[in-house]
Amino acid sequence: MSSPLMARCARPITSYPVITTNLWSHSIRPFSTTSTQQIRLFFPETQTKKIRVTPPAWPHPIYTEEQMQRVGISHRETRTFGDRVALAMIRLLRSGFDLVSGYRHEHAVSMHEKDPAKAEQKYRMTEEKYLIRNIFLESIAGVPGMVGGMLRHLRSLRRMKRDNGWIETLLEESFNERMHLLTFLQMAEPGFFLRLLVLGAQGVFFNAFFIAYLVNPHICHRFVGYLEEEAVITYTREIADIEAGKLPKWEHMQAPEIAVKYWNMPEGHRSMHDLLLYIRADEAKHREVNHTLGNLDWKEDPNPYVSVYRDAEKPHPGKGIEHLKPTGWERKDVV
Ligand SMILES: [Fe+2]
Ligand SMILES: [Fe+2]
Repeated sequence: MSSPLMARCARPITSYPVITTNLWSHSIRPFSTTSTQQIRLFFPETQTKKIRVTPPAWPHPIYTEEQMQRVGISHRETRTFGDRVALAMIRLLRSGFDLVSGYRHEHAVSMHEKDPAKAEQKYRMTEEKYLIRNIFLESIAGVPGMVGGMLRHLRSLRRMKRDNGWIETLLEESFNERMHLLTFLQMAEPGFFLRLLVLGAQGVFFNAFFIAYLVNPHICHRFVGYLEEEAVITYTREIADIEAGKLPKWEHMQAPEIAVKYWNMPEGHRSMHDLLLYIRADEAKHREVNHTLGNLDWKEDPNPYVSVYRDAEKPHPGKGIEHLKPTGWERKDVV
């Protein structure tokens, strides 16, 4: 069977897993109420008579394989009271999120030492469980950049002052997170339960982050920095699970066309494994950007990610990941 949508896919979409996982029962599908046939028509690209293509307004920087392989898990130690508040909030959210997505890595590891078979049966992360987690994570991750950018935009209008370049980076981050979400949505369509969860979480998180950003942007950027540390951990585990042969459906799966185009994925490097390397590198970049912004004076300092430096030969913050600093750039080194 051929259709315009299937023709646009890097590989027939019928081979993508469908979210059928249910945390409570195998007979009901609360996360997906859609049949495999219908998923093929999930948000097809709009076709018009006159427009050939609508490329992204923010083209993605090119990452090399070697740069992406260098990305790893990291943690910025708390130094201030605000840092501790941000980290405590993330730990709280993480526990709730783990419960929802059935992701209990620490429990799984400790049970594995005593009873590997039981641990495998109870805690094994499947492709479907990871997709639920990724879709939920990305739907939340796209909120802070938009809220921060919007509030800085309004502040600039209201106070009739320059923003010093922060707005673009924040909006670009939320755009990038939405591209992660759209990519995962090409692999599985969420059912009613997940949609409801995303709706509820967005309602609560958007408002909470909005108020928090009005009160203290510094803590909010640190909070996002810690959130991104968690995102890097999640994607690192997914990559490791593919490499260990624990996710057979993803082993030979190709990235959807939306991803191939957005990340400019070179031929021969368009597998699910490659895709996760790109996404993890993006999260590592957000981790760096937000820890850096959390180190700055948000009222006065220029955005180091869009600035031109006097000593151009030295490494500086930029859009790529060639000089990635997992715990962020310190203020004295950039402004
Ligand atoms: Fe993301
Ligand atoms: Fe992110």
